Amino acid sequence: MTPSTELQRPNIKTALPGPKSQEIIDADAQYVTPSYPRPDYKLVADHASGVWITDPDGNVFLDCNAGVAVCSTGHCHPEIVAAIQKQVTELIHLCGTDFYYRHMPELGKKLNEICPIEGPTKTHFANSGAEAVETALKLAMYHTRRQKFISFFGSFHGRTLGALSLTSSRKAQRLGFMRQALDVVHIPYPNKFRHFVTDKPTDEATVTRDVINWIEKKLFQTTTPPEEVAGIVLEVVQGEGGYIPAPTAFVRELRRICDEHGIMLIIDEVQSGMGRTGKMFALDHHPGIKADIMCMAKGLGSGMPIGACTARADIMDWHKGAHASTFGGNPVALTAALKTIELLQGGLVDNSRKVGAYLEAGLNRLKDKYDCIGDVRGLGMMLGVEFVTDKASLTPAPELRDAIEMACFNRGLIILGCGANSIRWSPPLILAREHVDVALEIFDEAIAASI
Ligand SMILES: Cc1ncc(COP(=O)(O)O)c(C=O)c1O
Repeated sequence: MTPSTELQRPNIKTALPGPKSQEIIDADAQYVTPSYPRPDYKLVADHASGVWITDPDGNVFLDCNAGVAVCSTGHCHPEIVAAIQKQVTELIHLCGTDFYYRHMPELGKKLNEICPIEGPTKTHFANSGAEAVETALKLAMYHTRRQKFISFFGSFHGRTLGALSLTSSRKAQRLGFMRQALDVVHIPYPNKFRHFVTDKPTDEATVTRDVINWIEKKLFQTTTPPEEVAGIVLEVVQGEGGYIPAPTAFVRELRRICDEHGIMLIIDEVQSGMGRTGKMFALDHHPGIKADIMCMAKGLGSGMPIGACTARADIMDWHKGAHASTFGGNPVALTAALKTIELLQGGLVDNSRKVGAYLEAGLNRLKDKYDCIGDVRGLGMMLGVEFVTDKASLTPAPELRDAIEMACFNRGLIILGCGANSIRWSPPLILAREHVDVALEIFDEAIAASI
């Protein structure tokens, strides 16, 4: 599929939110849980197409968030819509945990082809990222007969109790839920822009060495004997924590540690997978390094709810009845996933790499222009911009980040924060250079208006 090159600009006609949007926001406040972590700005969607979202008041926004990295093929891609429409006339549900249909082995086979896992794989289908992570945790415990996990500060793996035990990107996610359900120990993420001790930039070799030493010389010698560790769970590009890529040397060292101690290397590609980083998976940026177990969701179904946990076939050795889900692997969601992968392989992964590089170059120009941009980082169309008070001190500037997010919204550009003081760019992978030019122009204006 050729990405759309139609040049269009956002069109904001009312004060935001407009009157019809405000009605929905008010009803939401009355009837919907207040626990959703919505940003300060209030986007109400009426319909969307490609990279454009229209609100109920007719305002049109350029979407550089893609429903939090989900609408990988853009909103309502015609081929996705057609595939879903055909499928709903044929089979909507049967419960793949008790019966059979072609879509499960078809997508399982496809994931076997594309996942960076050694040897043949098997897949368990779920409905969300958190469920895919739960599957990975249960499988690792079952296979190793061990109970402990290692996770990273800043990580996000979901909000169900098992996944929440891994998650540590914000206090709000944990507050009120008391002890963690699983035995998880958290360690620093190898962030070369902020070394976990100095909070200052360092190099990949240093931060790799320091985190690996923490594992081997501290954890393994004290609270967390390696022979009791079922899995280490890694986001190869940390998502909610700030769009931070892990160094290749670090990922390789984790693989070594897992091999030495029979620990499962669980790679969470829920946010970084499905072409987002300019390769099918973020782990593909680290040649030769394979996962034991992988989690996918978000971009896999172009917006249909789906999660998948794919593992080495010899690891997925659990007994009948050990794990299943009524809706997981629903034929409509699987149809969307099969079509999504076809579109990704048909050009969108390449587009993510090429247009992502173009966007990154533009963001780096803004970094040179503004003292408040401390770091631009990421891969493909998974790019983070970290805001600071100034380049000399690199003091985090969360309020400035929030102000820029709002200023972008008011000008019709949808971007979202991540980490304490960063903005993430996670556009639909159909984004074209012309869209990038418009987005960068608005981002530039928003920064200028907010400093
Ligand atoms: C890396 C990662 N894992 C897991 C999840 C949880 O996915 P879900 O919200 O579909 O449960 C997320 C969601 O943001 C994520 O980014």
